Amino acid sequence: MAEINWDSLRAEAVLAMQKSYSPYSNFAVGAAALTADGRVVSGCNIENASYGVTLCAECSLVSDLFRTGGGKLVAFTCVDKSSNILMPCGRCRQLLFEHSAPGMLLETISGIRTIEQVLPDAFGPRELEERS
Ligand code: THU
Repeated sequence: MAEINWDSLRAEAVLAMQKSYSPYSNFAVGAAALTADGRVVSGCNIENASYGVTLCAECSLVSDLFRTGGGKLVAFTCVDKSSNILMPCGRCRQLLFEHSAPGMLLETISGIRTIEQVLPDAFGPRELEERS
């Protein structure tokens, strides 16, 4: 895999974060990812007066992935409103796992990690295939 330009991927996450709709938490989030075929997809959090309906930035990113042709994610980063690296929440790690290429890299608060490291022993599509 070609070297990941984390600075430019993070810059895309910052651009997405600036589009966030987060009037309830005032916690803007942006996410960006590189796809296996070289596209960059991104998303921001979109909140709702019914708080639980909020879409995390990763949800928007997955929509962008499919809107632009689908495929698998190979590198991912996420930022908060101060452009600092943010860990994806647990639900979003599951969401990302579904669409990750094996060994997908994430820029995290403790360095570059794989999806398997941030979601060990994950339940995923393979479990359904193997046990159905
Ligand atoms: N949020 C995300 O967009 N992604 C995460 O991984 C963590 C949390 C958003 C949801 C909500 O709009 C705000 O951050 C505060 O929880």
